[in-house]
This record gives sequence, structure tokens and C-alpha cells, in this order.
Amino acid sequence: MNVVLGVGGGIAAYKSCELARALMQRGLSVRVAMTSGAQEFVRPLTFASLTGQKVITGLFASASPEATLSSAVEHIGVAQENQLLAVAPATADLLGKFAHGLADDFLTTLYLAFRGPVVLAPAMNTHMWQHAATQANLAALRARGHRIVEPGDGYLACGSVGPGRMAEPEAIAEAVWAELNPRRDLEGETVLITAGPTQEPLDPVRYISNRSSGKMGYALAEAALQRGARVILVSGPVRLDPPQGAALVPVRTAIEMRQAVFDHLDPATIVIKSAAVADFHLASVPSHKVKKTAARISLELDPTPDILSEVGRRKGDRLLIGFAAETENLKAEARRKLETKNADMIVGNLVNQSGTGFESDQNEVVLALRTGDFVELPRASKRELADLIFDQILKLRLARYATQS
Ligand code: CTP
Repeated sequence: MNVVLGVGGGIAAYKSCELARALMQRGLSVRVAMTSGAQEFVRPLTFASLTGQKVITGLFASASPEATLSSAVEHIGVAQENQLLAVAPATADLLGKFAHGLADDFLTTLYLAFRGPVVLAPAMNTHMWQHAATQANLAALRARGHRIVEPGDGYLACGSVGPGRMAEPEAIAEAVWAELNPRRDLEGETVLITAGPTQEPLDPVRYISNRSSGKMGYALAEAALQRGARVILVSGPVRLDPPQGAALVPVRTAIEMRQAVFDHLDPATIVIKSAAVADFHLASVPSHKVKKTAARISLELDPTPDILSEVGRRKGDRLLIGFAAETENLKAEARRKLETKNADMIVGNLVNQSGTGFESDQNEVVLALRTGDFVELPRASKRELADLIFDQILKLRLARYATQS
């Protein structure tokens, strides 16, 4: 199989030499295309020597004076000859150009002409990574079905510390391999996923909510779709684009979420409740804005329905997975919720650690199982964890078949 490795202009370009080797070790033929910025960091000859193939250095660079039509439209030929486009490092500039369809050099032109899967490994300074423009571009690229290999945290070449360091070459090579050899082990399953927070109104302009970003639930939806499942995504208000192919059911309150879950429960074979549902709400919301007339006001809140527990009582043959966001006693709380809510597995995470939990792209979770065992998953991107969680769900499915036969 042939892949194009696009190398952007960032210091992480040196790691892409390792990546080229890691891809070739998997038996892939690697054609490298470098932006002009990348050539400031690494010589094209380095990649040519590693891959044994001519490196593409510009849109017209390979056109000789007597250019033929085929050499002048090399990006079309390269797009057709290769099964996958990987870009590492994917700079903020490249992400922006890909997201908006700009095509002013070979790599950006190739991106538009390319029809196969795309894997992007971003690398940049922490502030550039966190900038709203970069995050919006990433959301658009994710929604287009591209796989983003999240950068890690650490010391960056610019001297700052934080997210932005390109993922390790082995992790990127693994993501490329997974895209080329997709597992279809969730084919035939319908996965109902709840994600994000709920918002409980206090009056027409105010509400109570929580810090959930929905990233974990959306990563689960993306993983399930890629592995062949049908996905119904019941989502509270989040700033994320739903993955392509998911049936999105937008909701706001816990009551609406409960309704949406039971409206779509019938076809579901796996139910994953990753939403951070508000536990309390104002049962009767005033229709007018509450005025600042009193020196102090107090709110009397009523409990919302516990959706997970209710599904637990009516789950039939379905596999039911809940989440537990805790600040202490993680394992004990995960086990307690597993039992009281009649779930088959609880994904527990500590939300008061730095770099993981609510708004973060990374997470570290422990899975509580009905056997009494715990499975501790390594700290990883939410997208990687989503696959590990589904691996475990499939083990539960197999164990259930074994006990039934
Ligand atoms: N959950 C739910 N409905 C609710 C509250 C929670 O379905 N009204 C689900 C969540 O989606 C999650 C699981 O229950 O899968 C655990 O949520 P969590 O907030 O951790 O637990 P609670 O039961 O609310 O307990 P506590 O807040 O006391 O920890």
C-alpha cells in the first residue's frame, strides 16, 4: 500500500524521518511531500534516502522546462496512486488551509484532490494550539472524518510547557495503520451515546450546567462509526461538530435527554451514558427574568430523573455503560454506581487532575466491571481511549455469548 507523508514547516519535521521509517517497517511505500517551510528544517535528501523515492518539494518543482501535462498535474497523479495522506507535523497554517480549502502549494493542492483517508498529527506552540481559530479548524477537519493524532503535553522547542508537542512517530504510524486496516468489529451494533452537559434553566436567561465539553462522548461516537456501528448521538449543548454519519439528537435539559434516550432505545444494542447530566433542576421555571430585588435569594431544586438507572431497569439484552466523574474514591464510587445503576461497566475518571478530565483532549480512566475487576487504561487521547473502551465492551459481549451458549 502507498501513502503520502506530507511534512509541514515545524521543528517536529525531524521526527517525521522516524515516522517515514516506522511506516516503511509496516510494509508501506512512502512518498514524501514537503512544504517550503519543512525544507528549512530538514533536507529533502534525508527523506529521499530514507524512502528511496523522489521527494516532492513544490507544485511545479518537478516540471522540467519541457514539462509534460502529467508532470504539471502531479498532485492529481499522487492523489490517485496513494491510499492515504498523512501530514506530520500538521502546522496551524496547514490546518487552517485544509479546513478552508486553500490550495497554494503542492501539499494543500494534493489535500483537495485526495479522496482517501487523512491522518493529521498537529504540532505547534501551546497558545497556537489553544487558539479558537486552530480549535475551530480542527473541529471542522474532525467532522470531515479525518483522524487527528492529538499532540502530547510537554516541553516544547519554543521553551513553553503544555499541549502542542507532536505525537510520537510510533503512535502516528499506528493511527495510519488503523486507518488503512479499519476494524469493522462493531458492524451490526447500534450504539446509543449521550454526551455533553445538560443545561437546567432558572429563568429565560439563566441556567445551571457543568464543565463537560462532550469530547469523550463525541470521540466514542467517532470510534464506533469507524468500527462499523450505527450511532445515535444524544447530545447536550457543546461546541463540537458531530462526526459524519452519526444521527444527532440535540437536547438541552435532563428531562429532554431522558425523552430522547427512551425515544431511541429500541434499536440500541449498546448504550453509553457519557453525558454529565445535571442532578438537580428547578421544577417550575418562571417565564420572566428574575429581577435583582432581594438581597439574597435561595433556590429550591428538585432531583432530575436518573436516566442511567432507569435504562438499567429496562435494559433487556443491551450492554449498558455508564460514566463516573469523581474527585476522590474513584474505584469505590465506580463500583457503587455499577451496582446501583445496573450497568455492565462504569468508566471512572478523576476530574480534578491536571491535563485530563472535563475540557481536556486527554483522559485517564479506570473501568469497573461486574466481575469485580478493574481495568486501568493508560493516559491517552480521548479518541484512543474510545477504542480501548470499545475493545473492553466487545470483551463483555463475547463473555455474554459464552455464558449463553
Ligand atoms: N446519570 C444519568 N442521569 C442523571 C445523573 C447521572 O443518567 N440524572 C448518569 C451519567 O450519565 C453517568 C452516570 O449516571 O453515566 C454517573 O453520573 P455521575 O454524575 O457521576 O453520578 P451520580 O449518580 O449523579 O452521582 P453523584 O453526582 O452523587 O456522584
